[in-house]
Amino acid sequence: MSISKAVQALRRGELVILPTETVYGLAADAANARAVAALYEAKGRPRFNPLIAHVSDREIGRRVAAFDERAEALTEAFWPGPLTLVAPVRDAAAVCELARAGLDTVAVRAPDHALAQAVLAAFGGPIVAPSANRSGRPSPTTYQDACDETGAFASARLDGGPCRVGLESTVVSLLPGEPARLLRPGAVTREAIAAVVGPLSPAEDDARRSPGRLTRHYAPEARLRLNAAAPEAGEAYIAFGRDPQGLGVLNLSPAADLSEAAANLFSCLRAADALRPRAIAVAPIPEIGLGEAINDRLSRAAGKIG
Ligand code: TXA
Ligand code: MG
Repeated sequence: MSISKAVQALRRGELVILPTETVYGLAADAANARAVAALYEAKGRPRFNPLIAHVSDREIGRRVAAFDERAEALTEAFWPGPLTLVAPVRDAAAVCELARAGLDTVAVRAPDHALAQAVLAAFGGPIVAPSANRSGRPSPTTYQDACDETGAFASARLDGGPCRVGLESTVVSLLPGEPARLLRPGAVTREAIAAVVGPLSPAEDDARRSPGRLTRHYAPEARLRLNAAAPEAGEAYIAFGRDPQGLGVLNLSPAADLSEAAANLFSCLRAADALRPRAIAVAPIPEIGLGEAINDRLSRAAGKIG
């Protein structure tokens, strides 16, 4: 499938399977409310949960959202890359109200992926792209998984191979007069962000401010049991690190490397699910660096938060 076909589909208000460095997205023209309505419908996503507007660079980012000094510093450090900033909306028409779920803020990120960048350059405006899973399911990190989840709703599908990062972007809100808040841990670690703008405050409990935190997310079919030292009868065990006894049917990273574990997380959940086990048990993951985002996804998938 060619880039120009994908861009034509977006211009017609149709949906496109779009690879990024984090996970596959289901993309639509951010300015087109009908296209965005079709996107919510395809994902089965509640309309109170706003979308991320993808832009090619900070130049366009600044046009869409009001960047303060912190946004300038963070985009300088991490864009293009897996960091999403929530800031006051500047160009309300560029990202339609439905895409923002009626908020006066907007989430923006510049993806670090050649195909996504080529589509953005040719399309010329912001593109909304939530993860290409049906709402509540694990995010797709391969072309096949993306096609299986929502490919039927897309009129163009771009194959970018397996996603390099495998976990969604970190979402940070930068609102006037407020501290920088971590709304979603992700591929850029809390520590890396703190090194640029100082320590991050937690998300507020106010659901309007962090709507994505409300729903159960990333969940496989089977029940999940976390921090499991070993499997119980009938469980599929996902190991992490050395596994001399061979307890795991899958291993997030035999070398105990958190980047590798992040990249493997959602495909391991899908693979474990395919075995139709009584439950899926997952080894403990250290809560450092990328481990925070991995544990966040696992807890949500287990229905423990959100
Ligand atoms: O890595 C990613 O971010 C992927 C790829 C495809 O770019 N996209 C992604 O989109 O994960 P999605 O829609 O699955 O997650 C967007 C998150 C949600 O938690 C949503 O609530 C939050 O961003 N969000 C979007 N706009 C917001 C806003 N104005 N205020 C607060 N949170 C917002
Ligand atoms: Mg998602």
